[in-house]
Amino acid sequence: MDRLLVTGGTPLDGTVEIAGAKNSALKLMAAVVLADGRSTVRNVPRIQDCFTMVEVLEHLGVGCAWAGDALVLETTDVRPAETPYDLVSRMRASILVLGPLLARFGNARVAMPGGCNIGSRAIDLHIRGLEKMGARFSSEHGFLVGETTGLRGAVVNLDFPSVGATENVLMAAVAARGNTVIENAAREPELVDLADFLVEMGARIDGVGTPTIEIQGVEGFGPVDHTVIPDRVEAGTYAIAVCSAGGRLVLSGARADHMDLVLSKLADAGADVVATDAGVVISMGSRPRCVDLVTLPYPGFPTDLQPQMMALLASAEGTSIVTENVFEGRFMFVDELNRMGADIRTEGHHAVIRGVERLSAAPVRALDIRAGAAMVIAALTADGVTEIEDMYHVDRGYQDMEAKLAALGAVVRRERERSPALS
Ligand code: UD1
Repeated sequence: MDRLLVTGGTPLDGTVEIAGAKNSALKLMAAVVLADGRSTVRNVPRIQDCFTMVEVLEHLGVGCAWAGDALVLETTDVRPAETPYDLVSRMRASILVLGPLLARFGNARVAMPGGCNIGSRAIDLHIRGLEKMGARFSSEHGFLVGETTGLRGAVVNLDFPSVGATENVLMAAVAARGNTVIENAAREPELVDLADFLVEMGARIDGVGTPTIEIQGVEGFGPVDHTVIPDRVEAGTYAIAVCSAGGRLVLSGARADHMDLVLSKLADAGADVVATDAGVVISMGSRPRCVDLVTLPYPGFPTDLQPQMMALLASAEGTSIVTENVFEGRFMFVDELNRMGADIRTEGHHAVIRGVERLSAAPVRALDIRAGAAMVIAALTADGVTEIEDMYHVDRGYQDMEAKLAALGAVVRRERERSPALS
């Protein structure tokens, strides 16, 4: 497994290009299963999760070809082949093909998910929503098998505004017979991007971005040419990094309107934030101040930036309280931060962070995508050289992270795992 060596103490300065949103690109790729012909999805981040989704699509007979950061997807030979465990266990978002496959073929066979180790991530809301629309599910040899004689519109009331469940139901509903209403729907910008994509394909959708989405089922979807929105989590990660390490960054392409609460929390911590049409400029000239925050579904503070914020607050002035409401078990990386001298105590879904003067380098591990990013942020400010193991987690979600950081002045070096044959 690759590891990253980070020498802390250098401020960040320069411009960082923000890639397309992982959590949008993956869903657009799944949605393409509904369309006939050749679609182009532009601004797709070249990260491991998107490569995994390409493999999922190829299993389903979709022709996939990269042209720079555009992905050309040809669906003439698409078929409802099974999605194997090897792929679903690498990336839970593979289950997003469930809705489109049921809608197009009336059956789907997807391995039960594994994925990020960040607490229980059940798929009951996906299943109940699709069942409401006339799908039936069973489990066979580790596979989730879905069947329907024809999806029909329904009122789907989600217990929690799950992003994935809203997306799966939405992708099924656009092709169902009749009208569907999703109540307590997720409102994330990536979901809005997916709805825009589906509308370009021919779908009829109203109310996306609000808790009630209304869908009128239609038949026949055409190919599209669509550009993925910028990744607000990547942008937020670099914004937090500069607040932690100090300096000034231009987050080129970032959309401030997708990051309102994040930017206002960073301003509370002492950052100077300027939103422009071309991106966000953020600078920090002092030690960060403590900030309290609570993660919630959008437009609340994103759980995907909670670990990075904890890394920032670990060396802030004063005591912060962070409450995690979206994923249980998303504090597991705290032990790694504490090994770097942080003073963080957790109690259930609350964390109390007493800011220390300076973190100190230690060998640590990236436990998942965002926890890995948090370790990088902690390392950028720590005293000494931090070795971060298991960088493959970070590679799932961040394109060229160490190249981007190095261009901003950070002292980072990747050590690649030597192949066993050579060692
Ligand atoms: C997506 C994002 C992930 C982000 C999360 C919340 C992708 C690929 N991933 O994940 O980066 O952290 O949204 O913003 O877009 N739940 C259930 N039953 C279900 C579905 C979810 O109980 O059927 C629970 C989960 O266990 C979790 C919560 O709902 O506690 C939120 O999950 P959800 O919004 O579905 O997240 P994902 O779509 O998996």
